[in-house]
Amino acid sequence: MYIYTHKGILSTLFEFLPMELEIFVSLFLFLLSIFILFRRRKHPNRLPPGSLGLPLLGQSLDLLKALKADKVEEWFQEGINKHGPIWKANLFGHPTIVLHGPAANKFIYTCDSNVLANTQPPSISRVLGSRNIIELIGHDHKRVRAALASFLKLEVLKQYVAKVDEEIRYHLQTHWIGQHEVQVQPLIKTLTFNVICSLLFGIERGPKRDKLLPHFHDMIEGVLAVPINLPFTKFSRGISARRNLLPMLIGIVREKREALQEQTQEINPHKDLITSLISIHDDDGSPTMSDDEIIDNIIVVMVAGYDTTSVLLTLLVRLLADNESVYSKIVSEQEEIAMSKAPGEALTWEDLTKMKYSWRVACEMLRINPPIALAFRRARQDIEYKGFIIPKGWQVLLSSSMTHMDQDIFQNPTIFDPNRFDKHAPQPPPFSFVAFGAGPRMCPGIELAKMETLAMMHRLVTQFTWELIKKDESFKRSPMAEFDQGLLVQITPIRKSKASL
Ligand code: HEM
Repeated sequence: MYIYTHKGILSTLFEFLPMELEIFVSLFLFLLSIFILFRRRKHPNRLPPGSLGLPLLGQSLDLLKALKADKVEEWFQEGINKHGPIWKANLFGHPTIVLHGPAANKFIYTCDSNVLANTQPPSISRVLGSRNIIELIGHDHKRVRAALASFLKLEVLKQYVAKVDEEIRYHLQTHWIGQHEVQVQPLIKTLTFNVICSLLFGIERGPKRDKLLPHFHDMIEGVLAVPINLPFTKFSRGISARRNLLPMLIGIVREKREALQEQTQEINPHKDLITSLISIHDDDGSPTMSDDEIIDNIIVVMVAGYDTTSVLLTLLVRLLADNESVYSKIVSEQEEIAMSKAPGEALTWEDLTKMKYSWRVACEMLRINPPIALAFRRARQDIEYKGFIIPKGWQVLLSSSMTHMDQDIFQNPTIFDPNRFDKHAPQPPPFSFVAFGAGPRMCPGIELAKMETLAMMHRLVTQFTWELIKKDESFKRSPMAEFDQGLLVQITPIRKSKASL
């Protein structure tokens, strides 16, 4: 799975295991090493270079350490220096082929999912549900993806810019105005939760939404946690959160279906994502998605859309406090838009299309800090790739961070330069900028993410200035970036601009 793959830190697990489990795990380790040996023998000369290291653990701890310190590309570079762009390792309990470069990205992102499928440890589907889009392959994946895209596509989303903007203005009014200090990351998470609730689930502000938030929060933490199902672990809280959420979500789907049926005249099927999913029917009139699928997919949309966009926005807030030149260009772009609007007037799609520099800045931020740094797949059959064999059952791994930091692709990769994304600048080869993935599984939420990011940048820079309270506040990836103190900033309201509030 792309999002929160393999957070099962097996070594951590050992520290907490009771005796019986330790025996069980040791036996499992033994069987696994026999399996790995068998695999080595089956393809003795055609496996890429590299080492599978210790059974089960392999190089997992090193990669986790690099991930935590946001140095994934250094981990990759070391492997490339030793073995070249294709090598083998043992990661998170599975033998893995690690690939690097645009051609490899193309291969991974566009390979038929019957050959190379998304990987998700079973623990993830216990929290997210087995019918979510990330689990699905082949025709089922296409069907569910088309259903999600029917709402998430630009032509539909365009009409909701004012709604997103309204959520943002309410958010700033409630949580920022009147404050001297704010913790940016948790606040922005609340904002992205609210935008998804309103726009995708059609759940407006009020007690119903408030009831959902803690359950979603626990569920998302559960997806990211070490998968030990013992009382009081985050993972077990995640599973109970799913159990608690289900009746609420079933109720919401039922209400929306009834509302659709009771309507005498045409109801807008694009009222929200859930209504849209309920309204889609196959040619024979049967619903395209079962209720179970609708529920699992609205859960996955929340999980996929919540942390990713909030990480991007939080990093942008930090950047704008630090980089005077980028800040002043963004302010002038956004002020010009603000000046063209009546007081209190909502943003429109046309306004967002004028935020070209701001979006280049966001893309450059996604290049340097892609919220999802790794993508895993699993070979469903033996695959030949560049003269090597990727054996059936093995994982395949690519890193967007590594691609984005490759100086053969992006010159001076560590320099923050939004002009790389200028349409007149030389374009990098295809499959080089992969912050949103690529191919049939490319992020379907890209337009929503763009809309939220630009509208929030507009409102922030036209209403506030801010300074970092801890200049060196850093973040750890676990695997999503989490600022040590939530990114503490001191904020000052600026003169009431025409467009504010
Ligand atoms: C800055 C924000 C975002 C980033 C960087 C991002 C990144 C990604 C990436 C890299 C993938 C593909 C992973 C792979 O191939 O392994 C993906 C898939 C996905 N994203 Fe996003 N995403 C963002 C926002 C969103 C939002 C707002 C939504 C919801 C509306 C969303 C929903 C999804 C879904 C459902 C998939 C799975 C698609 C499939 O398997 O066909 N994402 N995202």
